[in-house]
Amino acid sequence: MAVGLVVILTSLLPCLHASLPVMASVSFTGMHDWGNRFEGTLVFPVEEEVYGWKVTIDFNYPVILQLSHEKTTIHSSSFDKKRFVLVNNLSHGIMHDNSTLAMTIGGQYNRSTSDPPITATATFVNLIHDGQVVISASPAVPSEKYNYAEVLEKSILFYEAQRSGKLPPTNRIPWRGDSALLDLGEHFEDLTGGWYDAGDHIKFGFPMAGSVSMLAWGLIEFKDAYAAAGQLDYMYDCIRWPLEWLMKAHTSRNELYVQVGQGNLDHRFWGRPEDMAMARPPYKITAQRPGSDVAGEYAAAMAAGYIAFKDKDPNFAADLLRHAKEIYTFGLEYNSTYTKSLPQSAAQFYGSSDYDDELCWGGAWLYLATGEEKYLNDSRKYHRPGTSWGQSWGNKELGCKVLLHNVTGDDKYAADIIGTFADWMPGGTVPYFSSGQAFRDKWGSLRHTANMAFVALVAAEHGLHSTEYRAWAKSQIHIALGDTGRSFVVGFGVNPPSHPHHRSSSCPMMPAPCSQEALTRPEPSPHTVYGGLVGGPSHEGGYKDDRQDYVQNEVACDYNAGFQSAVAGLKHLSITGQLP
Ligand SMILES: *[C@@H]1O[C@H](CO)[C@@H](O)[C@H](O)[C@H]1NC(C)=O
Ligand SMILES: *[C@@H]1O[C@H](CO)[C@@H](O)[C@H](O)[C@H]1NC(C)=O
Ligand SMILES: *[C@@H]1O[C@H](CO)[C@@H](O)[C@H](O)[C@H]1NC(C)=O
Ligand SMILES: *[C@@H]1O[C@H](CO)[C@@H](O)[C@H](O)[C@H]1NC(C)=O
Ligand SMILES: *[C@@H]1O[C@H](CO)[C@@H](O)[C@H](O)[C@H]1NC(C)=O
Repeated sequence: MAVGLVVILTSLLPCLHASLPVMASVSFTGMHDWGNRFEGTLVFPVEEEVYGWKVTIDFNYPVILQLSHEKTTIHSSSFDKKRFVLVNNLSHGIMHDNSTLAMTIGGQYNRSTSDPPITATATFVNLIHDGQVVISASPAVPSEKYNYAEVLEKSILFYEAQRSGKLPPTNRIPWRGDSALLDLGEHFEDLTGGWYDAGDHIKFGFPMAGSVSMLAWGLIEFKDAYAAAGQLDYMYDCIRWPLEWLMKAHTSRNELYVQVGQGNLDHRFWGRPEDMAMARPPYKITAQRPGSDVAGEYAAAMAAGYIAFKDKDPNFAADLLRHAKEIYTFGLEYNSTYTKSLPQSAAQFYGSSDYDDELCWGGAWLYLATGEEKYLNDSRKYHRPGTSWGQSWGNKELGCKVLLHNVTGDDKYAADIIGTFADWMPGGTVPYFSSGQAFRDKWGSLRHTANMAFVALVAAEHGLHSTEYRAWAKSQIHIALGDTGRSFVVGFGVNPPSHPHHRSSSCPMMPAPCSQEALTRPEPSPHTVYGGLVGGPSHEGGYKDDRQDYVQNEVACDYNAGFQSAVAGLKHLSITGQLP
């Protein structure tokens, strides 16, 4: 929604308010016509908090506009020079309620004495407003304490807000546009597209692929939930976007781009991706600099993507499978962690200490996709016995055990899965907050919990402690959705986060400039990055809705993946009458 105010501009009246009924009668008399020059003042009452604004002025003559102050810049003008769009200069974008915006506008134009005087109308738009994110908001189901369909819809919108590259006409996020169109490989390969990682704008292939495999897994297991929520087609689009990028990133048999953008360069910039100007170097793994971890994860994402798409779009699915097989073979043949091979890349952010878990996980997904025994053998070869830390972008041991248990029915996998959940359930080794949230790690604590909730729901589908696991998963997801009295999902439920650490939604609408002031501004972010799960409490009672806190209040592709899939699992239980 845009707030519009219309005022009249004239060279003779020093000050005109929107409320004055002068629109039609204001004239530009010859008395103060300085040789076809005009000057007037615009005064807009400011009736709400403003962050970023534009003013559109329509003249009745072609005009050469001159601005005699520093509040604004001419953003654009029409070909006939009758319409001008002005936008605030940096540091003049913030205005407070009950103030006014006054600016003197002058210029030159041409008319003969018999022509009518110059007049103009001006419209002020506060660029704080969202535009129109349309939420279809499926009706709540009485048996659901929280509207799962709405959460699924919003979580998918979160991924849409993370899109990099040329946006399709179907883009539903009005405050996002095309960006990073020059993301190229070392030989100018097209690396546009994919998702920005979190509140920043790096494309990190490892967690991107990890998010896709968790999302695809949720779609495969709980497709009925997406259909019931009216989100199935949106969900296919959601994972297709990064899957296309993962395929682009595979530029030849043993060459895989794993990152675009560099941490420090990227993090120094607070603003929109549409405005980025820093260098965005690409990083790739090769036979000389291998990365079996990232290769295994890309293969897992693509093989899971194949399964999700094989009936929906067989050609796309076949492409995914071909890439998955090649990448997996590359990962097996040249073994190293990408952290070791590319220490200057993701190591500080998404470093990986081993690759067994990804080769186990990638092999298992390829076996599910192809039924070829060799992949099952590879998966088992890299399987690590014992209980697991959890399930995350860097650790897929547990996920692999659940898949291996499913395809082999072997009890040794079940025992490790049960042992891991025994650690995670109350009374185990994982500590709990008094809210009832299991707390594995201070960085994105809710994400670890949500990942485990999702895996528990899948294990329950496979017949492992179904009643107990489902009840536990529901309790953990409900904490994220509001059971502590507040929601941790942006734009959902009661008292949701309004200051997430997320650059693009903290900026006013284009074309207003954006800068560091958007980070520190105390007001809520101008745009709602619907569906983003924030990191969550980092210690007992320790959550603050603070935009500068990237430990507790960042949103990330990785955070939403297991979370969204878990919500799909709960929706599945709801529609099948099994919700605890
Ligand atoms: C506003 O922007 C214009 C164009 O960029 C510039 O000439 C003017 O000096 C600016 N005023 C500032 C920065 O305060
Ligand atoms: C703005 O003015 C109105 C009317 O005087 C007043 O009720 C309101 O509290 C003021 N708002 C602020 C933010 O000062
Ligand atoms: C790593 O690669 C080497 C060379 O291809 C191979 O001999 C070795 O078995 C591999 N190690 C593992 C753990 O796969
Ligand atoms: C897989 O492993 C089994 C058991 O070790 C072996 O008999 C079989 O030949 C292997 N299959 C392939 C395709 O390597
Ligand atoms: C494997 O997964 C499918 C789909 O969830 C399920 O129907 C089947 O029971 C599972 N089998 C085992 C052994 O877990």
